[in-house]
Amino acid sequence: MRWLTLCVVATAWLTSLGTAHAGDLEDGQAYYLKACGRCHGPIVGDVVAGGPSRYLTYVMMPPYGPPLKDVFGRPAGADESFEYSAGFREATEGLVWTAETLDRFLLDSRAMIPGSTMFFKEPDAEKRRLVILYLEANS
Ligand code: HEC
Repeated sequence: MRWLTLCVVATAWLTSLGTAHAGDLEDGQAYYLKACGRCHGPIVGDVVAGGPSRYLTYVMMPPYGPPLKDVFGRPAGADESFEYSAGFREATEGLVWTAETLDRFLLDSRAMIPGSTMFFKEPDAEKRRLVILYLEANS
């Protein structure tokens, strides 16, 4: 019983610090692979246990979207290896990818940036939170 109380207190304390739970990054990675990886490719050298070997299935496919390593905190459209659509470039002038702007984009990409060639909607706020956490950890 005392252990249970300790665990509850420790969890409440960690939560109050805003610290990610241990499993959050792995959940974020799993969601990334399922929902984003097929277009954006792997995040090379990602920080989650499992590492690059998990990505072998993606290596053969050329990515359809820009690489998302280091995207958190970066101005939109800044990856020089990728040719963004004109609609995306025009609509994202001055936009920086933060937790807030990423959350809005992933909720409904075409509602936020109508000209974008990324068609994506994730209505589940918890899934958006997890994948944003994963992107932040890899930036
Ligand atoms: C169907 C393919 C597809 C899926 C699925 C997809 N994306 Fe995209 N994404 C794109 C494309 C294409 C672009 C470039 C858009 C443009 O140029 O108009 C893009 C752009 C982005 C950008 C802007 C990057 C930058 O450099 O400014 C972010 C951030 C992003 N996607 C995040 C995500 C995340 C996170 C997921 C998964 C939750 C995801 N995308 C799922 C295709 C996709």
